[in-house]
Amino acid sequence: MDSLTDKIRSLIAAKGMITFAEFMNMALYEPGQGYYQKKNPFGHQGSFYTSVNASASFGRTLANAFSDTAERLALPPCFCEMGAGSGMLANDILTHLKTVKPEFYSRLSYTIIEKSGYLIECQKELLKEHDGRVSWKTFEDFSGFEGVFYSNELVDAFPVHRVIRIGEELKELYVIEHEGGLTFYPEKLSTPKIQEYLDRIGLRVTDGQIVDLNLDMIGWAQALASKIDRGMVFTVDYGYPAENIFASYRRDGTVTCYYKHSQNNDFFDRIGDQDITAFVDFTSLQSYGRDAGLEPVSLTPQWLFLVQSGILSEIEKAETDLQKASVKALIMPEGGFGTNFFVLAQSRNVEIPEDFPYRKGAKETLDILAKMNGF
Ligand SMILES: C[S@@+](CC[C@H](N)C(=O)[O-])C[C@H]1O[C@@H](n2cnc3c(N)ncnc32)[C@H](O)[C@@H]1O
Repeated sequence: MDSLTDKIRSLIAAKGMITFAEFMNMALYEPGQGYYQKKNPFGHQGSFYTSVNASASFGRTLANAFSDTAERLALPPCFCEMGAGSGMLANDILTHLKTVKPEFYSRLSYTIIEKSGYLIECQKELLKEHDGRVSWKTFEDFSGFEGVFYSNELVDAFPVHRVIRIGEELKELYVIEHEGGLTFYPEKLSTPKIQEYLDRIGLRVTDGQIVDLNLDMIGWAQALASKIDRGMVFTVDYGYPAENIFASYRRDGTVTCYYKHSQNNDFFDRIGDQDITAFVDFTSLQSYGRDAGLEPVSLTPQWLFLVQSGILSEIEKAETDLQKASVKALIMPEGGFGTNFFVLAQSRNVEIPEDFPYRKGAKETLDILAKMNGF
């Protein structure tokens, strides 16, 4: 069988050049050879940690948040997780609900949508204990959903288009073969959707600046709206509002690679053996979603969302200093998952009550906590 790099070279030879999005899609998802398609990339043995690996408190807190949401909004006990990775978040959520809300658990239908055939097998193995509760669907087959839909670090793993301004011209950075290696080459935009995206957020890319645009995210948000009849969507990921992501001081875009827990920008090295990921533009995700019928409810820093969902009690319950530290890593501002991670909450055909916790701002939440805890 041809190596993944050979396959990419053959495609470039056939087409002359490919977009970075095409390259990234193959590097991450080529069946049997892409980064997510051949071994478990998460945690200590892999390339990176997500909040899920940091502490099971993350899953337990989300289990409380999502089951409370279903109950308060009178939604059926149906969860759908897209991009479930190793299956660890699903396992933490299901195990917690089985213990603390057995009645809810007994009625729960948990659907997983996962692109990687390899990871689906890992998920099936890990979730054996929850047989009968969990089923797998493709995104294409998913429709008419009522319940709570969520993802953690899914959207940052969608392929991005790289765009650069050179003088007065906006160009796309394609991948070509040159002198035996792969490299970037600026050419005209591959699709008018790029200019539409930039116009929508009112962005003029500065001379020499590169911006990474996640066009798949738009199609995803639009499709999702048509597949959810009634419910909430929680998208947890790292990124920022558009004015930060595309600020002129970010000269080189946000797409980057991770190999064995170290970051690098050697996109054309270790193809298929390292992760490639980019910050999520939450402004565009909200705005395209709203047009498609996903009503924005809130965009909350992860630390605040977890606090609103009761994570502080996890610190109180932690038995060792190490357990306490790993819960704190999820909410602490410096270096942890607290600050550049956000939770976007969107609703579809549901009334959100005034006292729904995820529509409150930071000050209101902290005031309530201060009253509750007396600090
Ligand atoms: C960065 S990993 C995050 C995994 C897990 N949610 C976690 O937090 O540890 C991205 C996951 O999304 C999956 N994925 C990416 N694009 C997808 C798509 N279009 N449909 C379903 N799954 C997708 C990948 O295969 C992988 O499991």
